[in-house]
Amino acid sequence: MWAYVITIQPTEFYANWPSESAGEYRYVGPKTRETPSLTTSAGTSALVMESYVQDGSKSINYFAGRGKLMSEPIDYDAITAAQKLTWSKGDFHQIARQNVCMADALCEATDPRAGNRVLDIACGSGTVALVAARRYCEVTGLDYVPALIDRAKRRAEADDLEVEFQVGDAQNLPFPDAYFDHVLSVYGVQFAPDQERAAREMLRVCRSGGRIGLATPLAKGWSGDFFAAQARHMPPPAGTRPPLHWGTDTGLAELLGDGATSIQSEERIALQYYRSVDHAANVFMNYFGPAIRASEASDRERLWQDLRAVFDRYNRATDGTAVIENRYLLSIATRA
Ligand SMILES: C[S@@+](CC[C@H](N)C(=O)[O-])C[C@H]1O[C@@H](n2cnc3c(N)ncnc32)[C@H](O)[C@@H]1O
Repeated sequence: MWAYVITIQPTEFYANWPSESAGEYRYVGPKTRETPSLTTSAGTSALVMESYVQDGSKSINYFAGRGKLMSEPIDYDAITAAQKLTWSKGDFHQIARQNVCMADALCEATDPRAGNRVLDIACGSGTVALVAARRYCEVTGLDYVPALIDRAKRRAEADDLEVEFQVGDAQNLPFPDAYFDHVLSVYGVQFAPDQERAAREMLRVCRSGGRIGLATPLAKGWSGDFFAAQARHMPPPAGTRPPLHWGTDTGLAELLGDGATSIQSEERIALQYYRSVDHAANVFMNYFGPAIRASEASDRERLWQDLRAVFDRYNRATDGTAVIENRYLLSIATRA
């Protein structure tokens, strides 16, 4: 008998998967390599994308099982602690330069004015916070990786900008109710494993009539392909929904709908510039915490090849450099 944890992804990312059966299930039974489908407790069939031996030691893709499936309670604290370690690896600041154009677009769209209180959640080295601070806003940036917060403080000082940076968790914001006029995040809060709680926290700290602005990775495009390639080397945590859930109308309505008078979204393109496609893959392998973590759990050379293939697929440049097309969703919710 073998024990597998089987991940089923939500329907909006992979055709015809019932979202109510998304999550992770334990399958205990004979080892099988038959049809890659299974019947969930909801009575529906789904394709099995990732399954792995329960101790996490070995990654086995496309195993299938049939049997009684049980969902397990999710230990969000343990997942958050593990993810914090992952984001502490490498140096996200080296990647963040490619996010500045999204921070500019987000501030242009949500339009914070001088004196407005602005929160940048999961700010990394301060990407959005510094843009808002240039508008003379009263800005706070929060991230749970102390080294990134230190870097953000040094950047603000170098640019002579006043920003309050602090270490904290997006799922437990250390701010009073209705404190901020603008609550923003670029590729940040979306990574919190307890999405409902992170959404509740954003709504809680935003004043009525204030704006919640997000730049979110999309399933179709560079981000989705990048995460999928990475997940083949290190499966996502048990039972959690992918960050891409925030990049769908359904996800945004589920997460923010009850606390917003309106939610508007549009697809945007951010271009990432590198010396070459190889250089792009190297930058992520050397500095991007989740890729470093995946390389530790898997075959580093194969991961590099897989990530390189994703960069190559979205490269617009024909002069040997790399100009990577990244589609993302820019969303603005107005707080009820
Ligand atoms: C892709 S980076 C984006 C950073 C920044 N927003 C930017 O655009 O440059 C994701 C960031 O989210 C942070 N993060 C992820 N989960 C978090 C959580 N639960 N609480 C606080 N920060 C978190 C990571 O430490 C990392 O800095």
